[in-house]
Amino acid sequence: MAQCYFITGTDTSVGKTLVSCALLHAFSARGKSTLGMKPIVTGCVNAEWLDVKAVVAASSVVAPREWVNPYSFIPPIAPHIAAKQAGIEIDIEVIRQACFKLQKIAEVVVVEGVGGFVVPLNDHQNGADMARVLGLPVILVVGMRLGCLNHALMTIQAVEAAGLQFAGWVANQVDPQMISFDENVNTLTQRITCPLLGVLPFDQNVNAKKFSAFLDVAKLK
Ligand SMILES: Nc1ncnc2c1ncn2[C@@H]1O[C@H](COP(=O)(O)OP(=O)(O)O)[C@@H](O)[C@H]1O
Ligand SMILES: [Mg+2]
Repeated sequence: MAQCYFITGTDTSVGKTLVSCALLHAFSARGKSTLGMKPIVTGCVNAEWLDVKAVVAASSVVAPREWVNPYSFIPPIAPHIAAKQAGIEIDIEVIRQACFKLQKIAEVVVVEGVGGFVVPLNDHQNGADMARVLGLPVILVVGMRLGCLNHALMTIQAVEAAGLQFAGWVANQVDPQMISFDENVNTLTQRITCPLLGVLPFDQNVNAKKFSAFLDVAKLK
């Protein structure tokens, strides 16, 4: 069975897509066949869903679009609201089956979550339920900015409450002005028991393939 990870973050726009793509490139460089999955995406830009386009471009295997991305919504809003407006209900079982198919055709599958970890998906389930049903080890992307310590530690509590294991975490410098950056990374390193896979610098011309060099995937089981 494939090596498979669920990528969550301290918030939306913290670098989940960047890290998912960088991980795919890092595994490719180690000779593994790879597939990215973005089960739920909202926010269509110029007739494209950028996260889906990015994970597809970073994957070495081509898979049917409906396996890679079972749910896509045009407005850039929370998934359960977008789904309700579209007149459908997100079904986690559909996502589980699609993920299972991907795991059969690639050696590594990287699943990017949506929003923060417990974002609602429908009237009775949230992102934690999706992660629990998928049952994958979790990689936490911390968008390093003021407030991230609280968000990181709360997300860890939520992941553990869902009964999931952590495979690793990534510190992503989304704010180039962050004061005491190193002390903040150290604060998290002292409190997070899973390996720090890498520290990603701020880069205006951010590039997932280039950033794969910052991630030590040998630390992932
Ligand atoms: N280290 C970084 N340096 C510069 N820009 C970054 C960095 N990480 C992320 N970004 C930018 O921030 C935005 C959000 O990143 P993204 O990976 O799409 O986050 P998410 O998937 O969590 O919503 C993107 O425009 C991305 O290019
Ligand atoms: Mg994303």
